[in-house]
Amino acid sequence: MNLFSRFMIIGIFTSVMTLAATGCKSEVPAPEPVNTSQIEKTTYRSNGEQIYVTATSQRGSTIDTKVDPAGKENSMGGMKMPCISCHGPDGHGGPDQKGAMGTAPAKDIRWSKLEKEYNPEKFRLAITEGKDADGTQLKADMPRWNIGKEDVADLIEYLKQLK
Ligand code: HEC
Repeated sequence: MNLFSRFMIIGIFTSVMTLAATGCKSEVPAPEPVNTSQIEKTTYRSNGEQIYVTATSQRGSTIDTKVDPAGKENSMGGMKMPCISCHGPDGHGGPDQKGAMGTAPAKDIRWSKLEKEYNPEKFRLAITEGKDADGTQLKADMPRWNIGKEDVADLIEYLKQLK
């Protein structure tokens, strides 16, 4: 084989490799569909905080808003909004933190405020039955929740930390 043929062979070889490489690039598989549950996975310092911020429990128990006895969905319209969306990141509530219909301001639910009127059982009845400390019905802007006792206890622990 003379020098010329060697260069030819190297030349052809290089072109074939370049083509193959370019071909491969266009065959790069499309990115995997994004798993949003992975993105939303944030670590919360406590289960109480996770419930307050996401309305989900680390216990794997269901936390949901109820449909009223007449079968009519409450003001949440079956949508799940966590406590934080109305009572705010610090639990202060206030006129800027209106309920879903924007009529009633969400109340201050830091435990330091609630404990004057509420004990843990009354608090549970407020969030599950919509009864305030005196047994008066809370406005429909405050959803009624399906939530277990242990999750309620975790939530109270979190509300105790809010300053
Ligand atoms: C869609 C908005 C909204 C969401 C979500 C919401 N709340 Fe409320 N909450 C309200 C409003 C509005 C009131 C005041 C109702 C009234 O004035 O009768 C209230 C009142 C309360 C009260 C009574 C306070 C008092 O001083 O009597 C408690 C307790 C409470 N919410 C706890 C919670 C907890 C815990 C969560 C989450 C599991 C939550 N709320 C989610 C809007 C909301």
